[in-house]
Formats: sequence, C-alpha cells, structure tokens
Amino acid sequence: MLTITPGIKVAGTCRVPGDKSISHRAVMLGGISQGTTKIKGFLTGEDCLSTLRCFQQMGVEVEETMDVITIKGRGLHGLKEPDDVMNAGNSGTTMRLMSGILSGQSFMSIVTGDNSLRNRPMDRITVPLRKMGARIEGREGGKKAPLVIQGDGLTGIHYQMPVASAQVKSAVLLAGLYAQGETSVTEIRPSRDHTERMLKAFGGNLVVDGLKRTIVSSELKGQEVEVPGDISSAAFLMVAAAALPNSDITIEAVGLNPTRAGIINVLKQMGAEISIHNERETGGEPIGDLRIRGSRLKGIDIGEDLVPSLIDEIPILAVAASCAKGITRITGARELRVKETDRISAIAEELEKIGVQVETLEDGLVIEGPQKIKGGSTNSHGDHRIAMAMAVAGLLAESPVRVENADCIAVSFPGFEDLLKQLVVVS
Ligand code: S3P
Repeated sequence: MLTITPGIKVAGTCRVPGDKSISHRAVMLGGISQGTTKIKGFLTGEDCLSTLRCFQQMGVEVEETMDVITIKGRGLHGLKEPDDVMNAGNSGTTMRLMSGILSGQSFMSIVTGDNSLRNRPMDRITVPLRKMGARIEGREGGKKAPLVIQGDGLTGIHYQMPVASAQVKSAVLLAGLYAQGETSVTEIRPSRDHTERMLKAFGGNLVVDGLKRTIVSSELKGQEVEVPGDISSAAFLMVAAAALPNSDITIEAVGLNPTRAGIINVLKQMGAEISIHNERETGGEPIGDLRIRGSRLKGIDIGEDLVPSLIDEIPILAVAASCAKGITRITGARELRVKETDRISAIAEELEKIGVQVETLEDGLVIEGPQKIKGGSTNSHGDHRIAMAMAVAGLLAESPVRVENADCIAVSFPGFEDLLKQLVVVS
C-alpha cells in the first residue's frame, strides 16, 4: 500500500530509470548478436528482468558490473533450447518480441506469463508468425499464452498490420532476421521505432520507407547501448510539475524519440511550460533534458493520430485532464482495453473513487475539469501505470490518496516513491 499526501509543488533536478522498450530490445538483440553488447542505464524493472532471465535460460551469459550489463551474444543461431518454461511475467514486450525470435529457432520453447499477460491477445503475433511458417500453439487456438513455439524454416511475408503496435511490428521484423527472402511490415500509423533504430545500429539489413519496413536475414554485431531515461516514467513527474503551480523540475537525459514524445506536445497544448535543453543523440536515439514549470492547464482533444506516440501516458494524462479547465476528449485509444489491464475502465473507476467524474468511451475517455480530487482509497488493478497515476493524483488532491497493490510499480519504475519524496514540497 502506498499513501501519497497532497503537495504544494515539485522542485529539483532528477533522472528517471532507463527506457523499458529500449532495455528489452538491447538484451534481445545483444543475445542473438556476434560478440558482446554492453548496456549502460539498463532498466532493472521487473519487465526487463523477465527478458534477461528468458535469454539466460537460452544460454546467453550476462554479467553485471557497476551500472553496465554485459551480454555475451550467441549469434543468430546460437541460442539453445530452454530446459523449462520461460516466464515473461507481466511483460507483453518480452512475450511478443521474443516470440518473433523463437519462431526462427530450431528448438521448442514454451512461454508463459502472469495472470494479466495470459489474458492479453497473442493472435496479433501468432497470425503473422504462422504465416511465416512457425508452428505456434497456445490456449484458445493460439489467441492466449502460454505459447508453445517450434520454429525454423521461415519464409518472408509482406504483412499489413491491422493495429498500430510496435510489439507486433517488432515480432515480425525479428522473425524476418531468420526468414528466407524479404519480410516487410506496413503500419497503419507510426508506432515506436526503437526496434528499427537498434537493428540498424547492430548492422541489420533493414530499409525504412514511409510506413513500410523491409528486412532480410542478416548477422548482427554486438554494440554499446546507452539507454536514455524513459519518457513514459518521466511523464508522471511531468504531469505533477505541470499541474502544481510554482513547480519547476528538470528531468535529465530523457529519450525524446518522436514516436514516443507525444506527451510533450500534448502537455504544451494544455498550457504547460516545457523546454528542452542539451539535446543530443545516443545510439541512434535523441535525448535531452526536460524542464517543466507549473501552469494552469486547459482541456484539449487527443485523437487517433496522436495516440500511438503517447499510448502508455493516457492514464496519467487523465489525471492532468481532471485538473485542466474545459473538456479533454481522448479517442482512438481502443488499444488501452488490452494493456496490462483494461486501462479505460481502470482509470475511470479509480478516479471516480477519489471524486473525479469520467465518461468512458469504447475507445477513450472524456473528462471535464477542473474537478476537485478529494482523496481516498484506490487500487492499481495490478497495473504499474495505474498505480503511479493514482499516486500523482494524490499530490494534486485535497487529502491523501492510498494506492493498494502498489508493488507493481517495480515493473517499470523502481525507486518511484523515493524520487517523488525527493521532489515534492509539502509545506
Ligand atoms: C511497447 C509497445 C507498446 C507499449 C508497451 C511497450 C514496446 O505496446 O504499450 O508498453 O516496447 O514495443 P503495443 O505495441 O502493443 O502498442
């Protein structure tokens, strides 16, 4: 149980833990590369540790020294058959991206996950991976995990994606590393492109042309990866600063990849004062320091074009919308229904418990503000982003907000509570 008392403002300079998406990909690409990969700033959250453990089960040696994780790559065809079921825990990225790699292996593997993950849709990856020739079985005819994968002998396909999902795109591209001929994926809207950037950095033969990505089988070579701060974690602090007048925080070395940075433009449109300093690039990813100052927020419309670039930030944006003057309408976000929990219902239910009225849509949310956040007891639904969104709501509330089931914060943001304590000014 986490209890957050109201704050007057947030102030100071900090860093957030490493980017979750990039940390997963660095372990996976490192594991199937020739030579070693050194990862600096790896996120030691539960999700990425699941990926690390799965690859260790497939014979990948991992060394940890100071703040660097060293992955001894086994080459494209060097992974070995795990002698037990692999557990992706709560992590959709682990299960979906790894399934792409497993589809190219000449051994059998079984991947399971926690209760939340076993109920998330897997047909979005089993359908294209089967088309490439992988034999995959799962519950409900391959719709749900555990998945049993017997790979090898893949052939390239051209896949038109039915949903905007970086996990699906990445699974197919990673399988494409093992396929005969070309594999291409065409997106309906741009989703995060960390896989493409990292594949190129590791020497993968990938061509990007508008919404189409084409890959042919290529050996990868281990690299040094510097993981930027996770903008999805920074978002919780950004909203706290934007919504509490007189706040002034700087979050250093945050990833600013345009396919991820929708939260910056949206908060600016809502009236937040945000500036970017010290912009630079590391390992093909743009990063910079974000300074956010408190201001009066106003409601805005967020439609389907913007949604993929801030899909994980919608729970915390709902909290910002509660404090913003006017109507915030978020649409085109049906994907939220199949995240770690149904995030549309979960955020509405929990905000209502602390006094905020929310209208839910099949594909989004409507919130008219400003509303008083009264405080009270909430539950995370076992979802890290719901837990942290409610914690930030506690800072903006009239009386404390309790968050039950808050352990899940460790999935993506170890040290969240301590960092918040360090930044919040209470009197
Ligand atoms: C992720 C992609 C997104 C996101 C998830 C991480 C990734 O999921 O919600 O937290 O690392 O590729 P979808 O690809 O399913 O939209």
